[in-house]
Amino acid sequence: MKSMKKKINIVLIGLMGAGKTTVGKKLASVLGMPFVDVDENIERNFGKISDLFKKGEQHFRDLESQMVKRISALDHVVISTGGGVVLRAENMEALKEKGVVFYLKRPVEDIIKTIDPTDRPLIRDNPAKLYRLADERESLYIMYSDYTIDASNIDKAISSILSVWDKIS
Ligand code: S3P
Repeated sequence: MKSMKKKINIVLIGLMGAGKTTVGKKLASVLGMPFVDVDENIERNFGKISDLFKKGEQHFRDLESQMVKRISALDHVVISTGGGVVLRAENMEALKEKGVVFYLKRPVEDIIKTIDPTDRPLIRDNPAKLYRLADERESLYIMYSDYTIDASNIDKAISSILSVWDKIS
């Protein structure tokens, strides 16, 4: 069974500002697994997210789906996704093929206090839009995740994920 786990990925989903990148980097370093950030790879390959959004959200979503499929094919990596990855079923089907999906859930009122909206085109004009995004997406995050993790405390979130991971044989 150990050889099975070698192929499994850890996938983090949740709203922007929930802590996916911070949690993912720490998890990867604790577990000795590579960390792969979908948004960072999109920017490296296609340019800044705010520029991609200027050509329309659909343009960004197409590139995101392309990148998600490429990254989903990797083995034994920690994947941090963009908050909107759940908007397309094809993204989640690809990620779930060999990924255990953790939904990082953090209260929106906390996120709004700490998030930097500058490079987040969907909320740049009005960070309070995050409440609407949260309402629209909550059921998708739940539906596509294997586990919901309380991310109001980063260290506790990491411990919870590690204890789940330990049990996967
Ligand atoms: C988005 C979240 C962002 C980024 C893009 C769209 C979203 O990623 O992919 O701005 O739709 O919620 P983070 O969740 O890493 O901020």
